Amino acid sequence: MNINNESPRGIHINRRDVIAAGAGLAATAALGGIGSGAHVQGSDILKVGLVGCGGRGTGAAGQALTADRGARLYAMADVFPDRIEGSYNELIKNEHIAGQLDCPPERRFTGFEGYKKLIEVCDVVLLCSTPHFRPIHLRAAVEAGKQIFCEKPCAVDAPGIRSVLESAEIARKKKINLVSGFCWRYHEPDREVFGRIHDGQIGKITALHTRYLTGGLGLRARQPEWSDMEYQIRNWYYYTWLSGDHIVEQAVHSINKIAWAMKDVMPIAATAVGGRQVRTGPEFGHVFDHFGVVYEYADGVRAFHDCRQIEGCFNDNTDFVIGTKGTAFINSWGPTLVIEGEKKWHWEAGRVDDKPVPVRDMYQVEHDELFASIRKGGAMNDGVWLANSCMMAILGRMAAYTGKRITWEQAMNSKEDLSPPKYEFGPLAVPSVALPGRTPFV
Ligand SMILES: NC(=O)c1ccc[n+]([C@@H]2O[C@H](COP(=O)([O-])OP(=O)(O)OC[C@H]3O[C@@H](n4cnc5c(N)ncnc54)[C@H](O)[C@@H]3O)[C@@H](O)[C@H]2O)c1
Repeated sequence: MNINNESPRGIHINRRDVIAAGAGLAATAALGGIGSGAHVQGSDILKVGLVGCGGRGTGAAGQALTADRGARLYAMADVFPDRIEGSYNELIKNEHIAGQLDCPPERRFTGFEGYKKLIEVCDVVLLCSTPHFRPIHLRAAVEAGKQIFCEKPCAVDAPGIRSVLESAEIARKKKINLVSGFCWRYHEPDREVFGRIHDGQIGKITALHTRYLTGGLGLRARQPEWSDMEYQIRNWYYYTWLSGDHIVEQAVHSINKIAWAMKDVMPIAATAVGGRQVRTGPEFGHVFDHFGVVYEYADGVRAFHDCRQIEGCFNDNTDFVIGTKGTAFINSWGPTLVIEGEKKWHWEAGRVDDKPVPVRDMYQVEHDELFASIRKGGAMNDGVWLANSCMMAILGRMAAYTGKRITWEQAMNSKEDLSPPKYEFGPLAVPSVALPGRTPFV
């Protein structure tokens, strides 16, 4: 298992595919097609900074440079210098973007504060670190008036979400672009099927069911020189303060699809089950390995979501949206998207109703749209639905950890702040595993 995997883990799209897709797009660009830089005004250079130089950040940087031939990778920031070097070395190998790298060692910033120096010198920032730090990085970027690509999840607790909502508002007022990494919202076939759902093609929604069942994730063996803080950041998936737990870090993609289908109306409450059945060793921190959530909506609709990260089980990433006149079936890994009922529509691996339709890479589309908007002076802002979808996942985790029915209002007002006492390399205790019925709601 490759811990550097940058796509939604378990999905067939991996970093190589994405970089290859970028290369393909660059070739298309040369012919004046996608990513041709049609909106580049003159020779204006956009200085791009990457915060969080792991798998996803490296992919996002490649996509940003592919999207806009005037973009330069100008600065990089990561807590660890080896991650910056690894990312830079990966990017320089891609001949389609290598000429757009302008990031000498003096603009490679390390440590917990490195993002501040990066934000100072860049026009566009790609926020791709582990999720815990996103609200801090996002706030600094909007306050400095920078254009932003912000990976999901955008926060791991309610104080973080409240901060992101404030940042989204600052971005709106400043007319800054804020594009989220919820890539399926940039996947053209998904846009088509969700558009059809919104147009009423399956009638009124009565229930939804989404799943994110995958295998396990990688683990980096502890090195003698690593402090607790370093070990946890290098194995961030297994610590709720860093990742939000896997329901927030990964399955949030499927929870975001519930939100999308429901036109971003939020549920009023959630109940959930969950636990840690197989991944029980101390090396796996304190996160759960499975969750099952029921979201309740004001109009009586129920949305059911299951997620699991256990090796050797059936994996699934399908969504059902059930309406009074039909059902939408979405299998993003297939990929197969179907509307059944009074209206019928079928999209399967590049064929719509059995006719071939080319589909652009969704990770590339995010950046194509962001840079096109920057160039034309637009202000895309995904901030509110980005925050709300992440909050839905946090609500599910809160309900599972506590065993309580938690309302949206309670969750949004939660005082639980998962931040460590200080950001420095040294000792850091691991919280105990949550026990439903005993773990309090804070
Ligand atoms: N949209 C998608 O499909 C998708 C796919 C994969 C990952 N992601 C998201 O991207 C983010 C990164 O995931 P990844 O797979 O690249 O993980 P990764 O571990 O490969 O990279 C994360 C990087 O962030 C760095 N980092 C940690 N704390 C930092 C800080 N305070 N300042 C700067 N850098 C810091 C780490 O050292 C690491 O290099 C996560 O939020 C993840 O959920 C999204």
